[in-house]
Amino acid sequence: MKTKEIARDLVRDDLANSKPASNLAFNEEVKALIKSGRKISHFGFGLSPFPVPKCMVDCVKEFAHANEYLAIAGIPELREEIVKFHERYDNISLNVDNFVMGPGSKQLIYLVMTTFKGDIILPAPAWVTYAPQIRLAGKEPRIIQTDRESGWKLTPHSLEEAAVLCGSRWKLLIHTNPGNPSGTCYTHEELEALSAVCRRRSIIVLSDEIYARLTFSRDHASMVQHYPEGTILTTGFSKWASAGGWRLGYAHFPDRLQELFSAVKSASSHTHSCAPAPMQYGVAKALREFPHELDQYMNNCAKILQAVSNFCHRELSSVGVVSCKSEAGYYFITDFEVVRNGLLARKKKADGEVMSKSMLEEADVALMPAASFLRPADELISRFCFVCFDGAKGLEALESSSSSVVLDDDFVRQYCPPVVKGVENLKKWVKMNTE
Ligand SMILES: Cc1ncc(COP(=O)(O)O)c(C=O)c1O
Repeated sequence: MKTKEIARDLVRDDLANSKPASNLAFNEEVKALIKSGRKISHFGFGLSPFPVPKCMVDCVKEFAHANEYLAIAGIPELREEIVKFHERYDNISLNVDNFVMGPGSKQLIYLVMTTFKGDIILPAPAWVTYAPQIRLAGKEPRIIQTDRESGWKLTPHSLEEAAVLCGSRWKLLIHTNPGNPSGTCYTHEELEALSAVCRRRSIIVLSDEIYARLTFSRDHASMVQHYPEGTILTTGFSKWASAGGWRLGYAHFPDRLQELFSAVKSASSHTHSCAPAPMQYGVAKALREFPHELDQYMNNCAKILQAVSNFCHRELSSVGVVSCKSEAGYYFITDFEVVRNGLLARKKKADGEVMSKSMLEEADVALMPAASFLRPADELISRFCFVCFDGAKGLEALESSSSSVVLDDDFVRQYCPPVVKGVENLKKWVKMNTE
């Protein structure tokens, strides 16, 4: 290569225009603005507002010295605890020998997509990462749109229609339950109906249940209960244990998918080698020795999230922003159609980009546009992440006197002021565009 030559044409044609994960890139942009002194309410990024449970931190500290490469399946003591964990919470029996452990479930989801041979069906709105991962794997997602009336959930009818159009014998359905970005949950009846289509149409399900333990009703319905033979379960500790940066997640395969399981194990060993050793030993110990503390922790987190979510939903509804209530996790989908005419009048254009930009400039509120979630670019919907607060104090208040704390609006105002402020700003901005 010549000294001053800038090398071009190095990237696969289908990836030539690829960008970093839009949520992470957006987060970096907003963080830079905050660093420059702007007071921005960041409703665009879903990071746990809570600290990692203390018992887990203490356990992981004990194993900071663990420096060996581990088996790709994960250490047996962690897998055994995970099996018990899912038995207790989801009433499902996982096979201790059918796990792959990864640096987050994201990596494992990608490896399933890349090793799988057939079409990949992706309901939208979808988490920002799936479609880029599918493209990275050299495939094109078959996108099925859902709607607000169904709670942004996939219906058996649309799944059947999509499956019929697929050319491959086997299909892989990416199923996010609880939903990101929707925050809604499937019922047992809905999962049963989807399972029937999957059996009929040779559809394998990758059930991403990473938000399961943050279901507000505390009653998560897992796809594994309904379609055990065809469901790959992926989840981890990033959400319920607030340990995203620890990078520990896992995938569990049913016996009948041994071939795909072996391919993913092999791909894992050739890419990430193993999941981080201190986290595996530490989390195994915490699950084994502190189940009650962890149970209380996740209950309290879910209670706070529900209170904040209800507050935001009600406040935004009061100015005409339409949304399905969140049932789990950190999000719900907001529809700002009410501001369309106002935006058109002021900005001469009304689409997701214009709305997002205008909110950031005029209301100091960060929300990602609809296209990031595979919705039409002119839609004024967005994912509202209500987690831009420091959850440590609220959690402490609940832990110290859980029976006497009422999780009402006063609680939200006292413990989550950045959310309250941001919602106020957003309401003013909506009014400015509707009056
Ligand atoms: C729906 C969904 N699946 C998977 C992940 C990835 O989680 P992990 O930290 O286990 O890679 C996330 C994280 O944002 C997510 O929102």
